[in-house]
Amino acid sequence: MPVPVIKLIESPEDMTAIEALQREVWPGSETDVVPAHMLITATHNGGLVLGAYLEEKLVGFVFGFPGLEKTPDGPRAKHCSHMMGILPAYRDAGVGFLLKRAQWQMVRHQGLDHITWTYDPLLSRNAYLNLTKLGAVCNTYRRSEYGDMRDGLNAGLPSDRFQVDWWINTRRVERRLGKRVRKPLKLDDFSKADLHPLYTPLASTGSLLRPPEHFSPLEGRLILAEIPSDFNALKQEDFSLAGEWRTFTREVFESAFHAGYIVTDFIFDGGRSLYVLSHGETTLQ
Ligand SMILES: CC(C)(COP(=O)(O)OP(=O)(O)OC[C@H]1O[C@@H](n2cnc3c(N)ncnc32)[C@H](O)[C@@H]1OP(=O)(O)O)[C@@H](O)C(=O)NCCC(=O)NCCS
Repeated sequence: MPVPVIKLIESPEDMTAIEALQREVWPGSETDVVPAHMLITATHNGGLVLGAYLEEKLVGFVFGFPGLEKTPDGPRAKHCSHMMGILPAYRDAGVGFLLKRAQWQMVRHQGLDHITWTYDPLLSRNAYLNLTKLGAVCNTYRRSEYGDMRDGLNAGLPSDRFQVDWWINTRRVERRLGKRVRKPLKLDDFSKADLHPLYTPLASTGSLLRPPEHFSPLEGRLILAEIPSDFNALKQEDFSLAGEWRTFTREVFESAFHAGYIVTDFIFDGGRSLYVLSHGETTLQ
C-alpha cells in the first residue's frame, strides 16, 4: 500500500467526512459519533483532528484535545487523545502509527510532554501498537470507564480500559518512533531469561482460549500476562467467554498495578499475545 498523506483537518466539510468515517469504524450507534461541530470547536481551542488520505480518500483519523490532569503540585496540562479509527480494509499497514506520529509532532510543538488515551486491554492489536510500536506505558486500570456502551464493537461488555501514558519527550518514545526499526520482542527472548507467564490460558471450544481459575503470585522483576489474540472474534463466537476474560484480566491487572507493576511492552509472536509488566524503578529508556 502507498504511504498515506497525513493532513490537519480544519474545514467544516472535512469534519463532516470524519463523522462519516466514525460510522464505518464504530457501526451501530449514532449517539457515539462525535459531531462535526464538537470537532470544530475543539480544534479552535487547541484540539487536533488529523486525517490519513490515500489518493484523496480519507482512510483514518485521530482526534484529541488539551486537558488537565491532577498532580500533587496542582493541575498540569496534557493532550487527551480521544479517538483513532482506520477503515477495516486499511488496517495493519502502518496508518495508525503514522497518525500517532503526526500527533506526537504537533503536540510537542504545542509545548506539552504528555498524551494519554484509553483502550480495551483485551485488544491485542491496539496493545501492540500503543505499547510496542509507540512506547506508551500503563499502570492505570479503569473499571467500566464509559458505563454501558452502545456501539457495535463494545455493546454488552463492561467497558474496562487501560489509560496509557505517552511521555512524548522521552528517549524511549523517540527511539520507537525513529527510523531504526526495533527488533520485535519474541517469546523466546523471555523463555531464555527463564521468565514464566503468570498463568497459562486453557483450551476452549475450537481455537478459543479460556482464562484459568487462578494466577501465580506476583513476584519477580518481569511478568507476562497472556490475552486472546483476537478478542473481537472471541466475543462474536462466545460472548460469555468474553465476559470471563474481562473478569479475570481485571483482577490480574488491578492486582499487578496495586503491587507496583507497570505495563511496559507487548509481545505478539506466533499467534500469541502477552503483556510484559515490569516492577518498580522501571526506566523509560
Ligand atoms: C486500532 C487501530 C486504530 C490501529 O490502526 P492500524 O492502522 O491498523 O495500526 P498499525 O498498522 O499502525 O499497527 C498495527 C500493528 O498491529 C499488528 N497486529 C495485527 N494484528 C494483531 C494482533 N492480533 N495482535 C497484535 N498485533 C497485531 C500489525 O501487524 C501492526 O504491526 P506491524 O506494523 O509491526 O506489522 C485500527 O485497528 C482500528 O481502527 N481499530 C478499530 C477502532 C479502535 O479500536 N480504535 C482505537 C481506540 S479509540
